[in-house]
Amino acid sequence: MTGQVRGVQLARLLGQWHALPGRRRSPDYAALAGAVRGLLADGRLPLGVRLPAERELAEALRISRTTVTAAYRQLRETGHLASRRGAGSWTMLPGNHRVASTGLWTPLDDREMIDLGVAALAAPPQLLAAARAAAEDLPRYLGGAGYHPTGIIELREAVADGYTARGLPTSADQIMVTSGTQHALDLVLRLALAPGGSVLVESPTYPNALAALAGRRARITTHGLAADAGGWESDLLLGSLRQTRPKLAYLIPEFQNPTGHLMPASLRERVVAAAHAVGTDLVIDESFVDLPLDGTELPPPTATFDRHSRVISIGGMSKPYWGGLRIGWVRASAPQVQRLAAVRVGVDMASPVLDQLVAVHLLADAKAIVADRRTQLAAQRDALLGALAHRLPDWRVTVPRGGVTLWAELDGPVSSALARAAEEVGVRLAPGPRFGLDGTLERFLRLPFTLPAADLVEAVGRIAAVRYDLDRTGRQRWREPAVIA
Ligand SMILES: Cc1ncc(COP(=O)(O)O)c(C=O)c1O
Repeated sequence: MTGQVRGVQLARLLGQWHALPGRRRSPDYAALAGAVRGLLADGRLPLGVRLPAERELAEALRISRTTVTAAYRQLRETGHLASRRGAGSWTMLPGNHRVASTGLWTPLDDREMIDLGVAALAAPPQLLAAARAAAEDLPRYLGGAGYHPTGIIELREAVADGYTARGLPTSADQIMVTSGTQHALDLVLRLALAPGGSVLVESPTYPNALAALAGRRARITTHGLAADAGGWESDLLLGSLRQTRPKLAYLIPEFQNPTGHLMPASLRERVVAAAHAVGTDLVIDESFVDLPLDGTELPPPTATFDRHSRVISIGGMSKPYWGGLRIGWVRASAPQVQRLAAVRVGVDMASPVLDQLVAVHLLADAKAIVADRRTQLAAQRDALLGALAHRLPDWRVTVPRGGVTLWAELDGPVSSALARAAEEVGVRLAPGPRFGLDGTLERFLRLPFTLPAADLVEAVGRIAAVRYDLDRTGRQRWREPAVIA
């Protein structure tokens, strides 16, 4: 069991359940059961959560208790609810259905394929000059052994200055350079989470974070994000923190991967306060913080609200600059950085000096490079949105105000089938269930806008063609999961 949802909370999640499409002829209890199934399928209602007592839900929904009783009975019959007399009812999926949410998630080297499985840009043109300048700098380091477990001082200072410029005063001894954000997450987990420890994550979330958590055999609970612009339901998120008191929570407040949501300042403040109250460490992944689009204003960094070293921020060069650099970092208290460095000795000891120097040169030119990236991303996003509106008008998308992905709500629970079919026509997709646990999220698909506009438009055309074929040919056969990115 991962916690319980109260009557008013479930009522809020259910929203206009009695007015769902296609329910004209179905009785109230069936519509209610259908709406609960919908929340489960979308990952907004976690599995293993205790539903409110029948009377409580009836009051919250202002309907008769008999209707709730009948809805719960139907949910039990369809395998979506397990009940024990006197103890309550828990959400589940029929047949203990699970889809692996982990697996190799790396870029594909097939050049014919339009790869929408990877949400990362090609290198910026400034990279070559930065690499040449870094090579010129290298002699300054060649007299030493080259091992810098927390990173070379120039880069730590540049990263610290970036936080200070965002309104979060930071010194170089609060920064540890890592080999990418993923590596930063792995090191933080090694430090802060004992094997089998409890972790709260958003659903959907970044699949490789789930893979890192699986590596720690973490017990994961989820906070379901709404597909529309609101994203986080504050009361539910704070309620989950208070109820489950996880050891750690992993959140992506800036242009969340995959939904693109931006967490407002007020919720950041409340999450940090709640985490402090229940003893939860917050790992805040800021991978997309440099990429607001349309002039979107950023709220203060989550760590701004932290007075008790509860927040560990991680970030890196991959999204605004280039993933191939493999440079990321952790921002924490100076003692935490020292402890991380001690953990790192057992892993990889240090990051490559040359790559760190390249990062220093790129960060020196950050303003211009990042401005170009934003312009490029906004144009590609608009091309993708235009193609979707034209070719797949039944899909619903919330326009992301930053980041590199949009989270499309499909016209049916077909995401995995669509991904398999799209691969046959040369488009690699990351289907919705990849971003959650337990095989939910089949009605969603993440679409990155990191490829050139022409590729995005071509990909949407191919996806639209196979989408309509899916309806004609029925379900595709299941294949072994392939390497995606
Ligand atoms: C939220 C999030 N965190 C971490 C990463 C991994 O970043 P890096 O390449 O710096 O390891 C990604 C890459 O997609 C991401 O989206």
